[in-house]
Amino acid sequence: MDTKPFMWLPIPTRHGWRVTLHTLEGQIPADYAEAAERLAHSWGVHAVRVSSDKPGRVRLAATVRDPLVKVDELPPSTELLKVTVGRLETGTPWVIDFRTVPHWINAGATQSGKSNLANALIVGLAPQPVALVGFDLKGGVEFTPYAPRLSALATTRAECGGLLDDLVALMTDRMGVCRMAVRPRERPSRIIREGL
Ligand SMILES: Nc1ncnc2c1ncn2[C@@H]1O[C@H](COP(=O)(O)OP(=O)(O)OP(=O)(O)O)[C@@H](O)[C@H]1O
Ligand SMILES: [Mg+2]
Repeated sequence: MDTKPFMWLPIPTRHGWRVTLHTLEGQIPADYAEAAERLAHSWGVHAVRVSSDKPGRVRLAATVRDPLVKVDELPPSTELLKVTVGRLETGTPWVIDFRTVPHWINAGATQSGKSNLANALIVGLAPQPVALVGFDLKGGVEFTPYAPRLSALATTRAECGGLLDDLVALMTDRMGVCRMAVRPRERPSRIIREGL
């Protein structure tokens, strides 16, 4: 059956437009993601991205041209542990917020931009009141320029092991402080008695 999904009017965005659709019975956002490249070709745009913030709704964001061709500077974030590291493929700022997601892995193929990302993170965090330590097993080639800002920089396997031990000791100390600060819980039997 050839039924078209209901589509709201497109809304212009800085780099193109976005439009919301109501999915048909049995459809999921991945069905649209699979067709995104075909849609980009038939609409004559650079790319179509698919997202969904509500069950039964799919948002298609079309970018007319590649927003990453022109390199421009973004204002640095002023919020603690938040770093604007660049732009996303949609043209919107790419913000890494360590308070929302504290753990990250920066991995990728050779020449995919890992060092650039690491540099952007250090440059973004350097003015903030946070401690930074570096593990640089490229013999210090990557992070030595930042040494004056780093609390520690390990550049050999042995130094990395030592630095990790130091960090674990620091973490254990802090866990001890947290443990002491935790209010002792009331015993459940007492709470139950009082509730009766
Ligand atoms: N976001 C980006 N936009 C455009 N060019 C980029 C971007 N990130 C990196 N590059 C370019 O891609 C190349 C590789 O970047 P980079 O050295 O950061 O990659 P890498 O993953 O660390 O490489 P390697 O595996 O060799 O260490 C460089 O020429 C860099 O200028
Ligand atoms: Mg690199």
